[in-house]
Amino acid sequence: MSSIATVTETLRMASRELVRCSDSPRLDAEVLLGKVLGLSRAALIARGDEPLAPENRSAYSTLIAGRLAGAPVAYLTGKREFWSLTLAVTPAVLVPRPETETLVELALQLLPPDQQHSILDLGTGSGAIALALATERPRCRITAIDVSPEALTVAVGNSHALKIEHIDWRLGSWFDAVPGERFDLIVANPPYVAATDPALKRLAAEPMLALAPGPTGLEALSAIIAGAPLHLNEPGWLVLEHGNEQPTEVANLLGRHGFTGIRSHPDGSGRLRVTQGTI
Ligand SMILES: C[S@@+](CC[C@H](N)C(=O)[O-])C[C@H]1O[C@@H](n2cnc3c(N)ncnc32)[C@H](O)[C@@H]1O
Repeated sequence: MSSIATVTETLRMASRELVRCSDSPRLDAEVLLGKVLGLSRAALIARGDEPLAPENRSAYSTLIAGRLAGAPVAYLTGKREFWSLTLAVTPAVLVPRPETETLVELALQLLPPDQQHSILDLGTGSGAIALALATERPRCRITAIDVSPEALTVAVGNSHALKIEHIDWRLGSWFDAVPGERFDLIVANPPYVAATDPALKRLAAEPMLALAPGPTGLEALSAIIAGAPLHLNEPGWLVLEHGNEQPTEVANLLGRHGFTGIRSHPDGSGRLRVTQGTI
């Protein structure tokens, strides 16, 4: 009997190891082996009895070691699906999350397809939200900003790769990047994890700038809510992603800054993760 492990055996062994660091060990094992072999997950299963060549085994071990050291699968493969798009991601950007698609859905409900609205995406990271909105609403004028030059480079690279060339990408801190400008809709998935939150340990591979804005976790949300009225047309909408323990604080902040029609919405797991208000 050959001692060379087959695809199926390799996946079984890797899944067992990845239990230590992942909630989805089998999926991670398949995606990473698919990256090494250039195969889809379905093709991997179909070729389960085939032996793994030594050079592929070695490349796979390196990826598994990276995952065990805490690297997200998306950083190891260099890409992530978001909305209908495949986005390049690097450790300079937050890995786009499925819950952020809830924010995109809500924004689209506020933007009739036939109209030319102006949109501002604050803290664009990989460009996920801006690019999804640009795909769905090609007639809208979109500005997207980030304070991280490295993140902005990833976002601009994604826009070229997707041939979405009409987004105005800008470097700067929140509204400093758009002095005197007003928009119909402002969207943001800002950093909102408190600096003392133990969850940050699990997220250590991702940029701290994208995760934790300060001691309370509300610093960026507060700054955006306070600044938004000066940058919104009337009527105008602000749609914010936040932590599942923050909807009441975000709603209160919106109320204090003159917003009405304040509503929080659940993500796919039923947690209130997006709040909107109008001015
Ligand atoms: C949670 S990530 C969101 C990334 C992306 N919008 C998404 O949903 O996947 C927050 C982003 O805000 C950016 N950011 C942090 N502080 C900022 C600031 N003061 N001004 C502008 N962007 C900032 C970070 O660099 C990061 O890209």
